[in-house]
Amino acid sequence: MEIKFERNTSPKAKPQDESQLGFGKIFTDHMFIMEYDEGMGWHSPRIVPYGDISISPAAMVLHYGQEVFEGLKAYRTKDGRVLLFRPDKNYARLNSSNERLCIPQVDESFCIEALKELIKVDKDWIPHSEGTSLYIRPFIFAADPFLGVHPAHKLYYMVILSPSGLYYPEGLNPVKIYVESSYVRAVKGGMGYTKTGGNYAASLKAQNDAAAINYSQVLWLDGVERKYIEEVGAMNVFFVLDGEIVTPELDGATLPGVTRASCIELLRSWGYTVNERLISIDEVEEAHAAGKLIEMFGTGTAAVISPVGELRYKDNVMTINNNQIGEISQRLYDSLTSLQMGKTEDTFGWTVEVK
Ligand code: COI
Repeated sequence: MEIKFERNTSPKAKPQDESQLGFGKIFTDHMFIMEYDEGMGWHSPRIVPYGDISISPAAMVLHYGQEVFEGLKAYRTKDGRVLLFRPDKNYARLNSSNERLCIPQVDESFCIEALKELIKVDKDWIPHSEGTSLYIRPFIFAADPFLGVHPAHKLYYMVILSPSGLYYPEGLNPVKIYVESSYVRAVKGGMGYTKTGGNYAASLKAQNDAAAINYSQVLWLDGVERKYIEEVGAMNVFFVLDGEIVTPELDGATLPGVTRASCIELLRSWGYTVNERLISIDEVEEAHAAGKLIEMFGTGTAAVISPVGELRYKDNVMTINNNQIGEISQRLYDSLTSLQMGKTEDTFGWTVEVK
């Protein structure tokens, strides 16, 4: 498919102070769109000026939430190259989400090539400072103007780009996490393993309640026994125990994070024992009480590595690693960001140059 291009003739001023970027607030001059119509497949790929779109008030996504998205980043290296980090993983996951949401599959290689074209057009928007990147948000939504419940016949796939800094204002400093025991995010057989807006909508109430008592995020427990740890919502989680690093197994309710997978591979390459298994909140409390919970951290594209300094479950407030950045969290953060920024040799073959 040939990608049409319409240049933005009124480009915006780029942010001057990169320390103020924050996350996901500013958008570049262009975006990518293609459409799906039943009988035609995906068609009309184009790069156009960034701007509002017009859809019917009856568009099915607005009523029934048939929507999926991804999150990945482009990095500017010191020698002026632009690198993507494992985009194949994001597009494979997009298609896995598509399958669950009855959204037609996309051609992963075409989407990656189209993404590269979009990034090339808006290359000057990739920030330069340490810790910054161009956050990439591909998404697909149902647009049929119809109020019946059925899989869409008309969809849009779009990509927008956002120069971003830190996801958490805390940066690499430890965050406070509240273990949610009333609400659940997802259950096995549901959509927890997909990146769909509904999972995030399900998290808002608990997140609000946690924020009101000064916690950054909530840690979700499984929806049946309310016992086994799943994820934080914007991050997967890892526990450094005595002699073993544990991350919850992918049980269908937990997102298969790209940063999660990369951390497992990195840690194993350094000789650590990493187990993907069930881990209950009781086990975490016991390990903490016995002085065997050495570190806890979250992993995610937006957040990278986020050490957890305090974990609260009901009335038990657990301080972890003296509320300091742990050795393993720091090593993972340094290794991942060095790889992503092209500062160290990529022996894993994870980075893809945009050229
Ligand atoms: C990401 O890490 O890219 C995510 O999609 C999390 C998001 C909710 C900001």
